[in-house]
Amino acid sequence: MTSFRPAPRWLADAVFYQIYPQSFADSNGDGIGDFDGIAERLDHLAWLGVNTVWLNPCFVSPFRDAGYDVSDYLNVAPRYGSNDDLAKLVDEARTHGIRVLLDLVAGHTSDQHPWFTASANDPADDRYIWAAEGPDGSRPDGFVDSPGARPGAYLPNFFAFQPALNFGYAQENPAEPWRQPIGAEGPRANRAALRAVMDHWLGLGLSGFRVDMAASLVKDDPDKTETARIWTELRHWLDDTHPDAVLLSEWGEPEVSVPAGFHTDFFLQFGGPTDGRALRSLWSNTEGTVNESWDPLDCFFDPSGKGTPGLFVDAWQQASAAVADSGFVSLPTANHDFSRLNCGPRTAEQLPAAFAFQLTWPTLPAIYYGDEIGMRYVPGLPDKEGSVLGPRYNRAGSRTPMQWDDGPNAGFSTAPADRLYLPLDPAPDRPTVAAQRADETSLLHFVRRLIALRTATPELGSGGSVEVLHAGYPFVYVRGGRYLVVVNPRRNAVSYAYGIAAEPRPLEVSGVHVDGGTLTAEGFAYGIFDLGR
Ligand code: GLC
Ligand code: CA
Repeated sequence: MTSFRPAPRWLADAVFYQIYPQSFADSNGDGIGDFDGIAERLDHLAWLGVNTVWLNPCFVSPFRDAGYDVSDYLNVAPRYGSNDDLAKLVDEARTHGIRVLLDLVAGHTSDQHPWFTASANDPADDRYIWAAEGPDGSRPDGFVDSPGARPGAYLPNFFAFQPALNFGYAQENPAEPWRQPIGAEGPRANRAALRAVMDHWLGLGLSGFRVDMAASLVKDDPDKTETARIWTELRHWLDDTHPDAVLLSEWGEPEVSVPAGFHTDFFLQFGGPTDGRALRSLWSNTEGTVNESWDPLDCFFDPSGKGTPGLFVDAWQQASAAVADSGFVSLPTANHDFSRLNCGPRTAEQLPAAFAFQLTWPTLPAIYYGDEIGMRYVPGLPDKEGSVLGPRYNRAGSRTPMQWDDGPNAGFSTAPADRLYLPLDPAPDRPTVAAQRADETSLLHFVRRLIALRTATPELGSGGSVEVLHAGYPFVYVRGGRYLVVVNPRRNAVSYAYGIAAEPRPLEVSGVHVDGGTLTAEGFAYGIFDLGR
């Protein structure tokens, strides 16, 4: 394995918080969130105890996919403010003990990016992947007709308006002359461009990047060896030039991405039997059948009690063994692509147990904005940007404005309600930060206490050991040989035989009873105990 500089020390204690910039806080009343709005709300984040924010793309863009269609990597979109406003936000965040990561869209640009318009008009340019027109005017599968003077077609990476940057192909094929080797001029130029983009923002005080579709760079690379090589090269460059910065991948396979050079990777994000969709299906039933629907149904847990945390535990053990000391696995509550934790009519009651698990597991936790107050996935909203991958893949419901208080627009914006860029959750009883701050029994206070407990207790953090005693209902594990965690993901009570010598000291407990050799957990109960040994 290639040796990297060890991850910066701060990363081991990171509690991530994802901000979708359109929807967090609008400082100037134009209906859309912005940097100054975020800066005004840093107190909330510091009070909550998160220490690392990652921002979805905030660069110049035609915004057909929420900024994942970048048309200028070096300048921010005016709707969020100026580069100076971002620098100011980063400085102010630092004084609150918070680092900021940006989103690096490495695999594609917008079709409006000058690199692409140049490429679409210059047959000699190979920053993108171009196939010549076939003799019958045809184009290869998956390619999109050139919008420029250049004949032929280009390969998109996600939506058609997101042309793939050319990082080369892992395998050549004389019948497909557009397959360039990784060492060709275009791929080299694109790797240099990534370094320049990173250098630009790191120089401004940013602490690293969440990397979009990190596995997508080299084409026809089934085992990702060549894509990994690119990230390895970039990591070495980063180690030399910006050793305090980190790369967090949207890859979903830490056993591949971390050895490749990422400091950490989001776990369980994509398909497979342990498909996260932010973990909604992780408690798949014992036959291994998962909830295949995009429809939000359950929270982290299968409340019917037919599931098992075993699939998750197995996948995590495998990943963490492969990652070992070279990096971290990150576990998000949700994100802008998937439904929120609170995603169904009866999921709210499951949230405390979900957080009790997430914040006591050795992965690096990532909280999606608003999940700390139990904001819900709002069904049925029309998609605003980057819509329609299928009728059930509706992302707007996870992107509604943050609910700060019970003032106009829930304190998000002073714009007229019909001018909000994305609509608020219309539910009359929608949760707010202000109401929950005033109530010490709220989810918000609970999440804050869990973060504080994790921060103050190294055994509960990313470096502490975990011994799983029961990967079922209840889910029972011991952290650092000392802290017992009991989570009952199901609606009905359940008990578990576990002999505890001395009376354990309860740290955060709701509905878990310890009686000699038996643990009893009520529906959706959780308990964190100090065994004092
Ligand atoms: C990632 C982003 C998603 C975006 C896609 C294309 O999966 O999270 O929002 O649409 O990449 O860039
Ligand atoms: Ca604004």
